[in-house]
Amino acid sequence: MEWTREMKYRTLEDVTSEEINRLINKVDKAPWRQTYHIQPISGLLNDPNGLVYHDGLYHVFYQWHPLGAVHGMKYWYHLTSNDLVHFKAIGPTVKPNHHYDSHGAYSGSAIVVDNELKLVYTGNHRTKQWERIPYQVITTLNNNTTADKRAFVEGPPAGYTEHFRDPKVWYDSNRNKYYAVIGAQRVNETGTIVVYESTDFKDWQMMGELKTDYKSFGYMWECPDLFNIDGHDIVLFCPQGIDREGNRYRNIYQSGYLIGSLDFDSMTLSHDEFEELDHGFDFYAPQTMIGEHGERILIGWMGLPDIEYPTDVDEWAHCLTMPRTLSVRDDQLIQQPFKALQQLRQSETKQSLNVTSNPKTINEMTGTHYELIVKINDNQSNTFHIDLRQSEDERTRLTYDATSQQLTLDRSKSGVLPNGVDGTSRTTKLTNPLGTLQIFVDTSSIEMFINDGERVMTARIFPKDSSDQITLTSEGGDVSLDMTKYDLK
Ligand code: FRU
Repeated sequence: MEWTREMKYRTLEDVTSEEINRLINKVDKAPWRQTYHIQPISGLLNDPNGLVYHDGLYHVFYQWHPLGAVHGMKYWYHLTSNDLVHFKAIGPTVKPNHHYDSHGAYSGSAIVVDNELKLVYTGNHRTKQWERIPYQVITTLNNNTTADKRAFVEGPPAGYTEHFRDPKVWYDSNRNKYYAVIGAQRVNETGTIVVYESTDFKDWQMMGELKTDYKSFGYMWECPDLFNIDGHDIVLFCPQGIDREGNRYRNIYQSGYLIGSLDFDSMTLSHDEFEELDHGFDFYAPQTMIGEHGERILIGWMGLPDIEYPTDVDEWAHCLTMPRTLSVRDDQLIQQPFKALQQLRQSETKQSLNVTSNPKTINEMTGTHYELIVKINDNQSNTFHIDLRQSEDERTRLTYDATSQQLTLDRSKSGVLPNGVDGTSRTTKLTNPLGTLQIFVDTSSIEMFINDGERVMTARIFPKDSSDQITLTSEGGDVSLDMTKYDLK
């Protein structure tokens, strides 16, 4: 089916309840539906938005185009949770019902101001000539609906193009001010981050650009975020238009961070090199929030723009990643699965193994949605493989090469592959020899936390349901390891 512009920009008001119900029923029966990840009831999910913990409740929203697996009219779909593990679906709370967001309520964030929940996002407006005008909008969340929308930046400021979006706001108690970082494209078509400040959350002043060493690093920076962990200033952003460098920057668009120290008065960040947040295939547009216990929690979109996914034909696409807790170890950002996810654990199976060149299938550990913890006690091999979601003709293969200290995720035999992706494997060089893996497998995804959060590799996979085995093999020597598997629900 060819999606015309008119079809893409229909709102939920433009369709009958029969049409949307038919769509939801079709998606409900579609293959590769996840079991414990946030996924859309129909249509396309993209960026996580408006993450906030307030009054004992987490709010998670995502960019949602309800009517099919294409980027069209965007809503914010709303979920709440008291543990960030079990969610209650609220529905499309931020709707494109205003001049400002006439062509989509684009990405943004949430903050509590005077005990009220404020949502701050980009209204995507298009003129009759199809020129884009981005508005930075503030609205108040009240009983799961939005009350009055007010724009605090109308159109791009001088020096920037129409690509000016994704405000992330926070309050700085030392300065007693509110701040917003906004993703931007300069008129010379390079990406950057623009900073705003406000004392009353009503009037906002542009402070200028966040100064980094990356003066010309891609043509647009989407979804910025800025926060401090234990004295380290960290800036997240998604640069578009970065060329591949060996094993780095393999995906169509990148998502990464700079870590260092921010001089607030001059808005200058002195920082280390840009590092990717995830070394897998499907990760983009993450956002962070402060959780119940003061921890910094990140959720990403497990997908990328401009890639064709096998679920598109069934009129749904994508999911969110599991929440990750952030910390800093040796000046490096560490990402670990959010602790409360342990509530998902069902039956436990344990094995101690000596892995040899004879492939060993663990008959006690089959499954399609589980958590697997691997602890390596002694590694005498040159390379060893862990095959997951395996059957006679399919496998998702992890390979560790001890000599080069590189870990590879190979999805060439994972089943149906997305289209428009560079290659079928991703490799990352670890800082330390491989010691532990914590792997979350769902019907159509794998998220792998390496060495206690030193690296993460995330991928969508589209295997058969019957590809459910785990097999281990080593080359050049044996590997002794302990494995624990939990079925997840
Ligand atoms: C990132 C992004 C954002 C934008 C949103 C629109 O994936 O392109 O920059 O606000 O998606 O859905």
